[in-house]
Amino acid sequence: MDNLRDKYIDLIANAGSESALEDLRVQAIGKKGEISLQMRELGRMTPEERQVAGPRLNALKDEIASALAAKKEALADNALDERLRSEWLDVTLPVRPRRQGTIHPVSQVTEEVTAIFADMGFAVAEGPQIESDWYNFDALNIPGHHPARAEMDTFYTHRAEGDDRPPHVLRTHTSPVQIRAMQDQGAPIRIIAPGRVYRADYDMTHTPMFHQIEGLAIDKDISMANLKWVLEEFVKAFFEVDDVELRFRASHFPFTEPSAEVDIRCSWEGGTLKVGEGDDWLEILGSGMVHPNVLRAGNVDPDNWQGFAFGMGIDRIAMLKYGIPDLRAFFDSDLRWLRHYGFAALDVPTLRGGLSR
Ligand code: DAH
Repeated sequence: MDNLRDKYIDLIANAGSESALEDLRVQAIGKKGEISLQMRELGRMTPEERQVAGPRLNALKDEIASALAAKKEALADNALDERLRSEWLDVTLPVRPRRQGTIHPVSQVTEEVTAIFADMGFAVAEGPQIESDWYNFDALNIPGHHPARAEMDTFYTHRAEGDDRPPHVLRTHTSPVQIRAMQDQGAPIRIIAPGRVYRADYDMTHTPMFHQIEGLAIDKDISMANLKWVLEEFVKAFFEVDDVELRFRASHFPFTEPSAEVDIRCSWEGGTLKVGEGDDWLEILGSGMVHPNVLRAGNVDPDNWQGFAFGMGIDRIAMLKYGIPDLRAFFDSDLRWLRHYGFAALDVPTLRGGLSR
């Protein structure tokens, strides 16, 4: 038994791979292994002999098994050390300045808006860009023949011949994320949903793909007053001004009642936009109190809950804040444009560190 022990302990110590270890395991303590065969001999021994040999064999088996396990771990550690040695990378190398990229204004503004609303307790929610007709329209209180459907210049996907289900759409706004978020999280809820939206439209201020940010706040006693305060705080923080006057203009959206479009006081003196002063008004978003039908579509009981929603064009407020005249250039991938309007990659906007520096 001592010979057996010395033999296997030695072999295990010198094994160079996991598969070699496995071979040794089979050879020693596998079903037909040397030690297992010895254990079968126990049956032929006298009770006295068995009393001595049995425990010793068991102890030997355990010793071999733990030697195997320890060696296996050591091999794995070595492999890891070897990888750490060979895959080493010097991350302190400076970037090559001529290849430095920039952050696109849409990404920058999305981060800015998110930072502002996060500070007011809004979490980010997402939904798919290819959306069912129900989420994009019906759930938002826009039934089949509502004129809003035609106004949206919707892109429809193709259904196979004979498939009568309504086609999916490229979402025309971020509002369907309201429904998905309510279904997923219930009330109370406070979310913003930034993302891509699509409409068949193309001129200085319209591209077939653009970006919106949706806001939704539902609780027991949320009113228009809360909406007004939240939007004022947002506009002041976003345009980085101390005071700003907002104008709530009565409007109509199927998914809110009452509805308001929001304008900010501004001036265009000398061709540049100044927010918060002057005699002009600039429309920046649509909003209102969420319609009971919309709450119901999100499985939220309108007898217990109420709240506000708003929707805003990210590209549009980016153009306003950073004085970018043509929306189409946003998506031309022209390096000169990107270098001119882009932002430094490591300047992540925060309320404390500054939004746009
Ligand atoms: N979905 C609207 C649009 O695409 C924007 C909007 C208006 C969103 C009012 C809202 C809202 O949540 O309450 O033009």
